Amino acid sequence: MKTIVLKIDPEHLDLEKIRIAAKIIRDNGLVAFPTETVYGLGANALVDEAVLKIFKAKRRPADNPLIVHIADKDDVNFLAEEIPSEAEKLIEKFWPGPLTLLFRKSEIVPDVTTAGLATVAIRMPSHPIAKILIEESDVPIAAPSANLAGRPSPTSAKHVLADLGGTVDAVIDGGEITYGVESTVLDLTAKPPTVLRPGPVSVEELRKIVGEVEVHPVAEAKLPAEKAVAKAPGMKHRHYAPKAKIIVVEGELERVCQKVQELADARRGSGKVGILGTRETSDRYRADVVKIMGDRKDPRTIAKNLFKLLRELDSEGVDFAVVEGIEPAGIGLAVMNRLRKAASHHIVQV
Ligand code: TXA
Ligand code: MG
Repeated sequence: MKTIVLKIDPEHLDLEKIRIAAKIIRDNGLVAFPTETVYGLGANALVDEAVLKIFKAKRRPADNPLIVHIADKDDVNFLAEEIPSEAEKLIEKFWPGPLTLLFRKSEIVPDVTTAGLATVAIRMPSHPIAKILIEESDVPIAAPSANLAGRPSPTSAKHVLADLGGTVDAVIDGGEITYGVESTVLDLTAKPPTVLRPGPVSVEELRKIVGEVEVHPVAEAKLPAEKAVAKAPGMKHRHYAPKAKIIVVEGELERVCQKVQELADARRGSGKVGILGTRETSDRYRADVVKIMGDRKDPRTIAKNLFKLLRELDSEGVDFAVVEGIEPAGIGLAVMNRLRKAASHHIVQV
C-alpha cells in the first residue's frame, strides 16, 4: 500500500487536504494524525472493519482497548451510558485537552473498539487538526498512538512513517506536538476515580477538581503490570520498549548522578553505552552517547523529548542506557511511568 502524506500547517488549516483524510476515515481506512499529546492512528470507532485495521497495522493485541476521540462534548452522551457528576466538572475544566475519561459504554460502541470491555475511553483532543478531522469525518475516531505495538509513541510524522509507512492509507504531517506523552487516563467507573495512566493533566490538578483521586499501581509503574494487577487490560502489555537495555536511577539528585556514571562505567567496553541526563547534569557524564532529556526546572521539556530520545537510542545502536530519574510529580509522574516501563521496571533507588 502506498501511504499518502498530507502536510498541513495547524495554524492555516488546508480544508482540501483535511477532506481527503476525512473521506478515508468515512471509507473505513486508516489516517494517522497529530494530537496535542502524540500522533494517533485513526479509524471510524463505530465500524468493526475499520477498527480491526488499526489492530492489524499496529500489531496490537486484540485485548488492548482503544480511546474514542470526539470533537463535541455532547457526543459523550451517546457513547457513554452513565455520566457521573465528576465527569461534568472534569469535562468543563480539561476538555478539549489531554485527559481521557472512562465511562460505562453505550450499545453503539462496538466490542472490538473496547476489546470486549463494558467501559469506553473517551477524549476530546485540543489539536486543531485532530478537531477538524473528527468534525469533517462526522464520526467518532478510535485512535491509539500511531506506533507499532511495543515501540515508543510517535511525536512526529517521521516516527509514524518509520513504523507504519506502507501499511496505513494516510499520514497527516502537522509538525510538532505540544506534550510528547500520551493523555492522562482516568477511570470514572471506579470509586474514587482512579488514574490508570498518568499524563499531562496531573493527579494534583485532578484532585483540585474532584477531591479524592486514586493512582493505580500500573500508573506508578514501579512493578511489572502483572504484579500490579492490571485493572486496565491494556496496561499489562509491554510499552515504550526501545531495543537498548535501560536502567533508571531514582532518588536524591547528587547520588543519582554518581550512580548513573557508575553504572555506565561498569558497562564500558561491552557494547555501546548511553546516558540520558538533564540540562543541569549532563556535563558531568561520560559515555559513548550522552543526551539531554530537558530541563529539570521545566519537566514539560523532558516529557516533550522523551520518546524521540528513546527512538534515537535505537537508531544509534545503543546497547545499554542509564537514565536519570526526575521527581514523579506533575507531568514528572507521566515521564517516570514511561521511563520505568521503557526500562522494564529495572529501577535503581539511591
Ligand atoms: O494521548 C493519547 O491518549 C493518544 C492520542 C493519540 O490520543 N492515544 C493513546 O492511545 O495513547 P493508546 O491506545 O496508545 O493508549 C490508550 C490506553 C491503553 O493503555 C489502553 O489500554 C487504555 O488507554 N484504555 C483504553 N480503553 C480502555 C478501557 N475501556 N479500559 C481501560 N483502559 C483503557
Ligand atoms: Mg500507545
